[in-house]
Amino acid sequence: MSRLLIRGGHCVRPDGVTQQNILIENGAFLDFDPPASAHTDDVIDATGMHVFPGLIDDQVHFREPGLTHKEDLRTGSMAAAKGGVTAFMEMPNTSPTTTSADALSAKLARAKRSCVVDYGFFGGATGQNTAWLREETRACGIKIFIGSSTGDLLVDEQELLEEIFAQTRLPIAAHCEDETLVRANAAALDGGLVISDHSKIRNAEAAAKSAARTIDLARRHKHRFHLLHVSSAAECDVLRDRPEWVTAEACPHHLFFDTTDYDRLGSRVQMNPALKSPEDKEAVWAALQDGTIEVLATDHAPHTLEEKDEPYPRSPSGLPSIEWLLPLMINAASEGRCTFEQIAAWGAANPAKIWDLKGKGSLKVGLDADFSIVDTEALSEVQDGSQVTKCNWSPWHGSALRGMVCSTWVRGFRAYHEGQFADPGSAQPLQYERGVS
Ligand code: DOR
Repeated sequence: MSRLLIRGGHCVRPDGVTQQNILIENGAFLDFDPPASAHTDDVIDATGMHVFPGLIDDQVHFREPGLTHKEDLRTGSMAAAKGGVTAFMEMPNTSPTTTSADALSAKLARAKRSCVVDYGFFGGATGQNTAWLREETRACGIKIFIGSSTGDLLVDEQELLEEIFAQTRLPIAAHCEDETLVRANAAALDGGLVISDHSKIRNAEAAAKSAARTIDLARRHKHRFHLLHVSSAAECDVLRDRPEWVTAEACPHHLFFDTTDYDRLGSRVQMNPALKSPEDKEAVWAALQDGTIEVLATDHAPHTLEEKDEPYPRSPSGLPSIEWLLPLMINAASEGRCTFEQIAAWGAANPAKIWDLKGKGSLKVGLDADFSIVDTEALSEVQDGSQVTKCNWSPWHGSALRGMVCSTWVRGFRAYHEGQFADPGSAQPLQYERGVS
């Protein structure tokens, strides 16, 4: 039995911030404000610091196996720890794709060896593997690309989608951009494309049309559905008329960038769904604020700068962000865009609930001791070439973000501390307390 005391920090929860001592035993929160006489093996002084719940990032692309020149499970999980993330859920568009029991087993085995934070993996839908998805219990959920993106996973045929929604029980997360409209938009532009055309091709209409189609499937089949990376006001409008078992997510790139950033950042801010207008960006913030969107996740999607520097449209879509997640949000809070409490709700409590994660999501007695100790006044300097993510660049290069993660703890184990990482091997697969789909 080992006992750790975190002394003097300000604990951040969705319902408030309170200064408390935290007693941790065997990797779980044992007591807040324990008696001074409580026995401890180790004491960490967090006076003047904030203690945030470990963030749960429900959408990352860590590229292993197959694309490990961009990222791998070790570097991706280290970048996560540095950004205040204690658990991630990874997408299936690796090479090979996570579309079979064997591929999922292989990923789980790799993660056990490589990760410094806890992990879960989506099973990818192909339209031909529904029998597997129906039986699989180890996946955190099912990912459907209803609209193509990086890789060749795509299920667009109505019949196949009906089958997946009818026959499976794991929660479904989908990339929604209407494939037919996206292709028609590209054809209409007729060659000579420049980077800003990305937002004309993958426009708000394409995102909203696909979101509405998928919410209709979720409603009719009474199937849990999580709309990934909401980027537009039109999708927020679609979401306002949804059954309670439909949830949604926003990502930092759609909260902090818009189409006016192409001039400055070019293909560094090329992603799918594409950036939208400044008004769309404000609508995504408003939807987070009013509860239409419940979850904040990164969609961390690293590519090398060399790949990104290819002329559009050969430049790949996606950008790294997980390493700066908590500083980005604390910085936003310092500008009055959100509160610390909301960061705890959007980034930890809500994803834990939506994905039925056992023992995760908050600073609460009995839950896993997943948290970060954060100096909310210190500045995090973002510089290309000195990052943990293997692609080693950031669209926020040159920024000084208010908020610095000093250390990150996963089940009471220190995964990250002032630039140093624990040896991999202590991370564990997420456990699920499945509700009814
Ligand atoms: O921009 C994106 N990049 N969007 C996705 O949906 C996939 C991701 C990737 O894997 O590169």
